[in-house]
This record gives sequence, structure tokens and C-alpha cells, in this order.
Amino acid sequence: MGKYIIQGGKTLSGVLPVSGAKNATLPILACTLIAEGTYFLNNVPALKDVEVMIKLLEHFGLKIEKIAQNSYKIINNGLQTLEAPYELVSIMRASFLVMGPLLAHRGEARVSMPGGCAIGNRPIDIHLKGFEQLGATIKTEHGFISAKAKNLIGKEIYLDFPTVTGTENLIMAAVLSKGITILNNAAREPEVEDLGNFLNKMGAKITGLGTDRIIIEGVEKLFPCEYNIIPDRIEAGTFLILSALTGGNIVVKGVNMEHLTSFKTKLEEIGINFKINGDEVQVQADLNNFKPTNIITLPYPGFPTDLQAQTIVLLAMIKGNSEMKETIFENRFRHVPELNRMGANIKIEGNVASINGPTNFQGAEVEATDLRAGACLVIAGLISSNTTILNNIEHIERGYENLVERLQAIGAEIKKSE
Ligand code: EPZ
Repeated sequence: MGKYIIQGGKTLSGVLPVSGAKNATLPILACTLIAEGTYFLNNVPALKDVEVMIKLLEHFGLKIEKIAQNSYKIINNGLQTLEAPYELVSIMRASFLVMGPLLAHRGEARVSMPGGCAIGNRPIDIHLKGFEQLGATIKTEHGFISAKAKNLIGKEIYLDFPTVTGTENLIMAAVLSKGITILNNAAREPEVEDLGNFLNKMGAKITGLGTDRIIIEGVEKLFPCEYNIIPDRIEAGTFLILSALTGGNIVVKGVNMEHLTSFKTKLEEIGINFKINGDEVQVQADLNNFKPTNIITLPYPGFPTDLQAQTIVLLAMIKGNSEMKETIFENRFRHVPELNRMGANIKIEGNVASINGPTNFQGAEVEATDLRAGACLVIAGLISSNTTILNNIEHIERGYENLVERLQAIGAEIKKSE
């Protein structure tokens, strides 16, 4: 497993460009299974998770060509199989997003049951219940989920939780169904909206995107298109936190601040001011004037769970006591023991982290336990007084494109070693 060697305390300044959104790219790539023809996708981030999804599409028989650093041509001339194998689904649970398009296009799918991961057991019961309500027969056997549907019939569905990939899977299953499907308590994330906009460009009829009530009128046929993926709001938030903690001389470029309203509000509560100039954002921050605050992670438009770990580093730098309550995943504080090893003073009680600052972060040998925990440890390493060795960086490279090169470009002393 690779590692990062980080020499903290450097002044960082310059432009940090934001990549395309990983969590919009994955459902949109899966969605190219839904109709034959040639697609062009732009602003696709160069990530390990994207490589896995591309491998999975090639497994189904699609031809995929990288035509530029972040652009792909995808040719779907028909599917050679309807089964997603264990070895690919087990690497990345978002592979389960192929279930919806396969059901819509071919009325059949067999996908290895996605496993849990470090942050929780990640059930898919809401996905499966929704497929059944649309008329699919679901069977779970030998670690595989098989779904069959002669034809899918539109239905009014209530989601017990506004699951992001569950909403995405059900939108894709419903777009070619007969009649109208209504998803109540649907996820409102911008990445769900991006998938819906992609499908509407293909000829789907979806309204209510970005709200908790999404209406899908089934159509006969869909046509491939060219599409530009939205910027990654989580990567943007990660970089804005880094900037706030290193003097605010970083210009984060390619941000859509409308996707970060709750995040912006909470950081303003702390005493951080945002300077927004089109898609370029800078933060003005004086560490000595930060005020402690309490944050609760919630489904969008609430505070994003994917920025929880990174924000805890920020809270640890504030004099006084702050709290972070994690309501989305049951085990998403695995970065806390690592941060405490670097000098933080954080206590966990149930789903609440109690953070006592300020912290004089010292470099240490630590490990990334999941994607966003890894990102938080990179930030902690960059503001520590000396050297941090961060292990298991494969987690980080799943979600942050060329992170080392981009950080080096703004003065960070960070290097990768095997
Ligand atoms: C998506 O995961 C994201 N992944 C996650 O990003 C993100 O943290 C999460 O949404 C929440 O915003 C992708 O989009 C590929 P959920 P997803 O279904 O869809 C419960 C990252 O760092 N649930 O919204 O798997 C589940 O237990 C990753 O980029 C059910 O109970 O999240 C969890 O507590 C990490 N039954 C909650 O919903 C279901 O059928 C949130 O899950 C589905 C979900």
C-alpha cells in the first residue's frame, strides 16, 4: 500500500483547480448501459473509482476510449452479458448502480451483492424494494442479486431514507417504464440532479430534480448524448478548509458555491469569510478569531457527511469546544483516533464527536481508513509542525485526482512513496 510523506507548516498559495464530481460521474457512466449508441463525457475525473466503473462497462461489452485528459468516448453496441462480477463489485460498491439501467434496458440484471465498507454496512434494501415496486422480481442467492422484469410499470414510491444511489438507481430503472413513477423522499444531491439532467438530455422526462419529489414519465427510447459532469463539491469543500487553515492564499477554481450553501453557512458561523468571483473562491480566515460551533451531518441540502472528517480538523484548531454529529453513517469517525495521535483532543460518544481546541498538530505516522478520512489526514499533515507519514493512500486516490501534484503546485511539501 502506498504512502504520502508530508512536511507540514509550509505556506500554501496559488490556484487549486477542482475536478469533475466523482459521485456524478459514477452513476452517469453506469447509465451508458441504458441505450445503444455513442456517448461523449467531459470533465470526468481521473480516479481509481472511475477506472473500476470503466472496467465494469467494458465487461458488459462497451468500448471506451479516453479522448483527452478528462474526456471519454463510450460506444454501446449492445451488451455481451447482464452480470456484474464479484471481483469488480467488491472493489467498489457504487458498481451496484448498473442494476437500474440493466433492468430498464434489458429487463434483467445479476449483480454481486455490494459489500459494506469502513464507514458502515451500507444496505441496499431501499434500492431493491423500489425495483420490486416497479414490477421486478428480485432473488438473492450465492451472494448475487438477480432481478427480472418483463416490463417495468411506473409507480408512486416512498423511500424510507433519501438514499443517493438508491434514488439514482430507481430513476434509471423508471425512465423507460410504462407510465409515471413518483419518488417521494428522494435524494436532492446535485449529483442526483446531474444524472437526471444527463438522462433528460437523452430524451427522458424527469421533473422535480433537486427536490424530494422526483417525477419520471416513462418514454419509449433514449438517445446517447455529450455531457459535461458538474464540479466536485466535496473536493471544493476540502480545498476551502485547507485554505482557511493555511492563511487563505489559495484560490479554489471551478467551484459551484450553490452546491455548498450549508457548508458555507457553517464556516461563516466560525468566522470565515468567502470571496466569490464567478467560479473562483477564496476564504479570508484569521485562526485567532475562529469561534467554536456545532455541526450535524444531514442529507442534502444539509451539511454533507463527506465533508465531516475534513471539517473536524478545522474545528480542532478553534479555541473551545465544538461538536460534530454524524447522522448518515454508523461508523464514520475512524479518522478521530488518527487525529488524536497527531495531538487532537477529540472524544466520541455515540454519533457525536466532541472536539476540544485549539490543537497544536504534530506530524506522526497515521493511516487512511476511508476516502474522506484520508483527505482529513492530508490536511492535518499539511498544518502540522513536522513530518507526517500517511499510509493506505489508495483510499484517497479513489476520490482525489492527482492530489500530490496539485498540492505541490501551491507550495505543499508532499510526496508519494510505495
Ligand atoms: C452516496 O453513497 C455517496 N457515494 C457517498 O459518498 C455519500 O457519503 C453518501 O451518498 C451520502 O451522501 C456515491 O454517490 C457513489 P446513501 P450511498 O444510500 O448512496 C442508508 C464518498 O466519500 N441506506 O445515501 O451509498 C445507509 O445505511 C462516498 O464519495 C439504507 O438504509 O449513500 C446510510 O446510512 C462515501 N438502505 C444512508 O442510507 C438503502 O437501501 C446513506 O446512504 C440505502 C441506504
